[in-house]
Amino acid sequence: MAQDDPAAAADPVPPLSDQRETLVRRCTALLDGLPEAILVIGTERRVLYANPAARDLFGPHAEGSQAVALLRHPDEVAALERGFARLRDGTEPAEPVEVQKVIAQASTESVFRMLVQPLDPASGITGLIVSLRDVSHVAEAEQQRRDFVANVSHELRSPLTVLAGFIETLQGPAREDPGARENFLGIMARETRRMTGLVNDLLSLSKVESVERMRPRTRVHLTEVLRATLAALRPQIEDAGIAVRFDDLDNAPEIPGDRDQLVQVFRNLIENAVKYGGNGGRIDIAVTRCEVLSGVAGPAMKVTVTDYGEGIDPIHLPRLTERFYRVDTDRSRQKGGTGLGLAIVKHIVNRHRGRLTIRSARGEGCTFAVFLPCE
Ligand SMILES: Nc1ncnc2c1ncn2[C@@H]1O[C@H](COP(=O)(O)OP(=O)(O)OP(=O)(O)O)[C@@H](O)[C@H]1O
Ligand SMILES: [Mg+2]
Repeated sequence: MAQDDPAAAADPVPPLSDQRETLVRRCTALLDGLPEAILVIGTERRVLYANPAARDLFGPHAEGSQAVALLRHPDEVAALERGFARLRDGTEPAEPVEVQKVIAQASTESVFRMLVQPLDPASGITGLIVSLRDVSHVAEAEQQRRDFVANVSHELRSPLTVLAGFIETLQGPAREDPGARENFLGIMARETRRMTGLVNDLLSLSKVESVERMRPRTRVHLTEVLRATLAALRPQIEDAGIAVRFDDLDNAPEIPGDRDQLVQVFRNLIENAVKYGGNGGRIDIAVTRCEVLSGVAGPAMKVTVTDYGEGIDPIHLPRLTERFYRVDTDRSRQKGGTGLGLAIVKHIVNRHRGRLTIRSARGEGCTFAVFLPCE
């Protein structure tokens, strides 16, 4: 019959073995291109195939080695055995076996989600397919979330403990003591302000984070923003007996910016200079134009806030913009700080596609510079 079919004669169907070989070649090419690490493990517990991502992870000799040499943690060995048990019993593998694998690479640890699945017997290969996906960023985000919740709870707990203690004292021993009452109410008011400050900072942070990908559409005049911020901080600056010098730029251009957010940036930087660098007696604020800034197309405006206080040890600088990071936690708390200010500053500057740099050495004061693109 087939000989009578002209189409079949022109384009003969290749034999089954050739088709299978083509299929294997194509599948291997597909697996080779996957970013996930893939291992195929035969019933002898030997690695029959390791794709390039798996060879990057386990070394060039992964293929051909014993599976236990690569996956030696008891959980991983147990996952493979469960896979083989499913293979033997022929039970339908509804869900792949899943375990977490931690691999130490250089100075970091990576966390992988490892899935073990019996191969379909129709493939002609008896064995397991093991995939490993790097989920370190997910694990890291979870850790950050846990740390964040722990930090917030801790920050709220201390003022609440103080309040609860004073309420009890005022209800009991100090009930009839007007002097003590006055004193305790003062402390209670301060602690309440601290909690309100913390909650406001948390709200600001979440608001800033939610719009971080959207560049501001409005334009602002930096000089006006700085003058308004300084005016609002005037009482604080005068109380601390600090002289402020403001070097403005003539004809500073309007730049794209969110006014309220930029006020928040400069308020925190100036407030920090007063709170932590105030013993230097003066603060300099300067606006300059900067023609080139790496990572920013076109010119940028640069605002520097410099104090002459005790400065910051350089070991702290890389972490200073992390939420709740404080050089001296007790001192910052005493001054009503929560350690969120610079985290908010960083997010706002990022939203403006700008940069924040911090220069300081112990005993030599600090210079915080904010760069904001002109366009
Ligand atoms: N000008 C400065 N001089 C010395 N240390 C500083 C200066 N600015 C910031 N720091 C240090 O950096 C820490 C973090 O500052 P940040 O503004 O994030 O928090 P905070 O001022 O403590 O609290 P908040 O801004 O939320 O009220 C401060 O606690 C302080 O230790
Ligand atoms: Mg601050």
